[in-house]
Amino acid sequence: MNKPIEVSASILAADFGNLAREIKRCEDAGVARFHIDCMDGHFVPNLTIGPVIVEAVRRHTRLPLETHLMIEHPGDYIESYAKAGADIIQIQVECYGQRRPSCRQWNQWPKEIDQVDIPALRADLKKVRGFGKKAFVVINPGTPLCEEILKDCDGVLIMSVNPGFAGQKFMPEALPKLKRLKEIFKGDIAIDGGINAQTAPLAVKAGAHVLITASYLFGADSPSEVTKGLKSLA
Ligand code: DX5
Ligand code: ZN
Repeated sequence: MNKPIEVSASILAADFGNLAREIKRCEDAGVARFHIDCMDGHFVPNLTIGPVIVEAVRRHTRLPLETHLMIEHPGDYIESYAKAGADIIQIQVECYGQRRPSCRQWNQWPKEIDQVDIPALRADLKKVRGFGKKAFVVINPGTPLCEEILKDCDGVLIMSVNPGFAGQKFMPEALPKLKRLKEIFKGDIAIDGGINAQTAPLAVKAGAHVLITASYLFGADSPSEVTKGLKSLA
């Protein structure tokens, strides 16, 4: 049976001067979760949110908070994000293994690898679970699906843009990975990047049931209509 669609509001496109109000607006619209993009200026070419803001968001909602860690050495920050109130911690597999030559310098993106360092990744997923949180891996468009790690994950997040910014164009390269996951994985299957009325049906058909959206949701006149439309794709 298909799982119900859950809309996850990516606050990257929210009005940060009015975060509490934005959170309430998303809750009223019927979102199921909040997605918090944490970027360090090294793993991705942008800087955003640290645990202190997660803590602030936590005070304004009881919905699950997912922290998408686009940071180098994510393992060193799991404890801070867990203590700040994250329910789900999403870590990028590209942080575990040797980088492709094209992205070894600090200012070369996207970060990609050919082979995941499974023991190191597994240790950090275990660390997440040790704090009583759900552990997700995140996979960039150019990185192959790492099937060996699935048994250690509560969910998988497939990127349909190269991470770093909201408002980018959906990359259909993500779809075969969703299809494969749907066949072999029982946990959450999430998609992130370029989700809108045209791309969401493709992602759902391929196997995603958690739809993460920033610009489509926050840019809409009616976030409720957007949420309703996405949920009706089930
Ligand atoms: C990209 C982030 C996404 C982003 C989505 O690096 O991980 O979560 O906020 O933005 P939209 O929905 O505008 O593509
Ligand atoms: Zn994200």
